[in-house]
Amino acid sequence: MNEFSKFDRCLNRENTNSVKHDRYRDSEILPMWVADMDFSVAPEITEAIRSRLDHDVYGYTHAPESLNKLIVERMQRLYQWSIKPEWLVWIPGVVAAVNIACRSIGDANSQMLSPAVVYPYIAHAAELSNRYLQKVPMVSRQQRWVMDSEWLAGRNDANDEILLLCNPHNPGGSVYSREELSELASIAEARDWVVVSDEVHCDLIFERNLKHIPIASLNPTIEQQSITLMAASKTFNLAGLGCSFAIIPNQQLRRNFRQASTGIVSHVNLFGYISTQAAYQQGEKWHQQLLDYLRGNRDYLREEINQIRGLKLDPVEATYLAWIDVSGLGLDNPHRFFEQAGVGMSPGREFGDNGFMRLNFGCSLTTLKEAVLRMRTAVDNHWDQKNV
Ligand SMILES: Cc1ncc(COP(=O)(O)O)c(C=O)c1O
Repeated sequence: MNEFSKFDRCLNRENTNSVKHDRYRDSEILPMWVADMDFSVAPEITEAIRSRLDHDVYGYTHAPESLNKLIVERMQRLYQWSIKPEWLVWIPGVVAAVNIACRSIGDANSQMLSPAVVYPYIAHAAELSNRYLQKVPMVSRQQRWVMDSEWLAGRNDANDEILLLCNPHNPGGSVYSREELSELASIAEARDWVVVSDEVHCDLIFERNLKHIPIASLNPTIEQQSITLMAASKTFNLAGLGCSFAIIPNQQLRRNFRQASTGIVSHVNLFGYISTQAAYQQGEKWHQQLLDYLRGNRDYLREEINQIRGLKLDPVEATYLAWIDVSGLGLDNPHRFFEQAGVGMSPGREFGDNGFMRLNFGCSLTTLKEAVLRMRTAVDNHWDQKNV
């Protein structure tokens, strides 16, 4: 058995109430939308859950001290960022954390600056939190989508209070560079914005010369003006276990965040803590193998997609989510077009651009090849029918 065969062998997820798979339960459509992967988790995680399961009592559980210590060490080791255990706030999900953060900052007049094209639940947080949403235009720098810092630097509105950053960016997978982050940080510092930074994809970077940098780690000023959100969930395929953490160095921000969640956000799942700890402590080998496998999928996908007339895929630096430009096909409803072809992707319009589709390549290469074949066939037929 070669090193990667475990990722080729995906389990059947029928009858597991999988959100991803049940959308297309009684159809032949391949589920390639919501961001969870088809792979079994690292065996060390299953083992850790199993051994806790044997205890038979599953009462309210707080974060293990050893887990807090692990996160502190992890931030130091990976990012040379010295954090304190008391800065950590555990929450069941990153989306919940984004929403709590928005509710805990400013008031009903406050404006939230969010990337114009982004994971939809980030932008939705403004409305749900009764805040105004200002969309920050995205610019393509060397085929990487990032927020337009010049546009941000030109802002002069006292109601702007929150800058939402998604790094690595979903969709598109760009990893913000130190220079780009420093630019954003100095704008935020000058205007006193709080940066809410969703970094849930930080461990899914494919390029060996790229490195994740938490914006909060840049300097003590931005550290005090930031809420950093992370989780093991995307990388280690634990989304159903509901466990993530916020790093909030500023005491007042932390207090407000805790207050906004009190009585609304329930305890983190006990198995969320167990799996997160096992992932960070024992999952590194599996993680590296995963990155190798996903890198292979990404390279295959990019090569193939760019040979299909009317489709275009820029380099994907991180995340297992390909942001495919389908605008060349001139379709009103590309989502329906590809569903009819048997490929169930996420519609770009939900992220802010109807000319794109987001494809989740966290699946076996066999499944990915089948998806590409279906897409190519459908697009070829489309051009044939147009007779061009
Ligand atoms: C950028 C980003 N943030 C948050 C989430 C969801 O996080 P959670 O399931 O912890 O709420 C996702 C899921 O795809 C995501 O891509």
